[in-house]
Amino acid sequence: MVHFKTLNDFNVKNKTVIVRVDFNSEVDSQTKIVTNGVRICTHAQGTLKELIEKGAKIVVLSHQGRKGDIDYTDLKQHAEILERILKCPVKYVDDLFGEKAKNAVKQLQEGEILVLENVRSWPEETQKGTPEQQSKTNLVQNLAPLADLFVSDAFSVAHRDNVSMIGFTAVLPSAAGRIMERELTQLNKVLENPQHPCIYVMGGAKADDSLEISKYFLNNNVADNLLLGGIISQLFMAAKGLSLGKGTMDFLAQKELLKLIPGIQELLTNYSDKVILPVDVALNVDGKRIEIPVSHLPSEYPIFDIGTKTVEKYVKIISKAQSIVVSGPLGVYENNNFCYGTKTIFETIANSKTSILAGGGNTIAALDKYGLTNKISYISTAGGALVEALMGKKLPGVVALETATETKIR
Ligand code: 3PG
Ligand code: MG
Repeated sequence: MVHFKTLNDFNVKNKTVIVRVDFNSEVDSQTKIVTNGVRICTHAQGTLKELIEKGAKIVVLSHQGRKGDIDYTDLKQHAEILERILKCPVKYVDDLFGEKAKNAVKQLQEGEILVLENVRSWPEETQKGTPEQQSKTNLVQNLAPLADLFVSDAFSVAHRDNVSMIGFTAVLPSAAGRIMERELTQLNKVLENPQHPCIYVMGGAKADDSLEISKYFLNNNVADNLLLGGIISQLFMAAKGLSLGKGTMDFLAQKELLKLIPGIQELLTNYSDKVILPVDVALNVDGKRIEIPVSHLPSEYPIFDIGTKTVEKYVKIISKAQSIVVSGPLGVYENNNFCYGTKTIFETIANSKTSILAGGGNTIAALDKYGLTNKISYISTAGGALVEALMGKKLPGVVALETATETKIR
């Protein structure tokens, strides 16, 4: 169990609070306009609104993209979006820790909020280091003396040891914001105290991540069963010695995924009975959906979805689950001929009334497409950070909160 302070532990009235959020959003590659503001909205309604209501003076730090990437922008439009969500003025300066930024911080009044420049406009932000080392940098040395409290709310960046994520925790009293708190609580529920049977429904294309997560969930008795679809299920079938045929094997070879097979075989020697694989598949036969039992493989056509019998089998197992983790679609759901597996399984999960943890870009998009978002008890805002957490890795941003300085608020 991780131990960290939260906003309940500090009186923030009239205190200057630096809040590290993750406003990193999808942007249009041409116009650079933010196309999905869900992360901004989540931080606004979860943590920033509370700090405003409690009369803090709020300094917001975030990144957006990386220099050189198409989604790298300043944070002016993020501040404007935040203003619309919060329905109160939000200040913005195009400076991170220079005189302009410091003056703007000093001028803040109770309940006011200021967004500083993209932390990744400053190259040292992404240098490696411990909280102690990161606290010696210009960002922390300039801003920390003006602040009373650091609030870490960016769980989705917690897998990075970036200066703005961990540096302040070495020199300022520090707390998890409400989003960080919620993400860690939900994650702990699954990883440390799962209700059994705990079922992991795993699909998607990121097979190397999926394998690492499978190992952690099986070796630590977190999941009772893995129900597999997508690319990872094809690799597991191949690892079991099933001949899938040219259509699928060429694709796996081209993606350089066949190298994962020995690791999967090793996992299967211990957990063969816990890993549930498709009994039938839908092939893409020149755009048409043709279902065959796996015993009729190999095929020259590629596998694009799990079949109807597999869906029935998975639905039965899901109906007995007490907790469910779901990541990744079970087939090529973007194509209507191959969405059946993903749609039916996701609907079953959403209606199952158990505790559900969902994460990953495609999972969220698919849940949204089928109107299921509101039925899922917990959808993580994180991508890479969630993946690393599900692999059992310690996240630097979380460790920094756990080991934060015990200094009392001034
Ligand atoms: C994300 O979108 O996953 C986070 O904002 C982290 O971004 P990064 O991968 O660029 O560090
Ligand atoms: Mg990114």
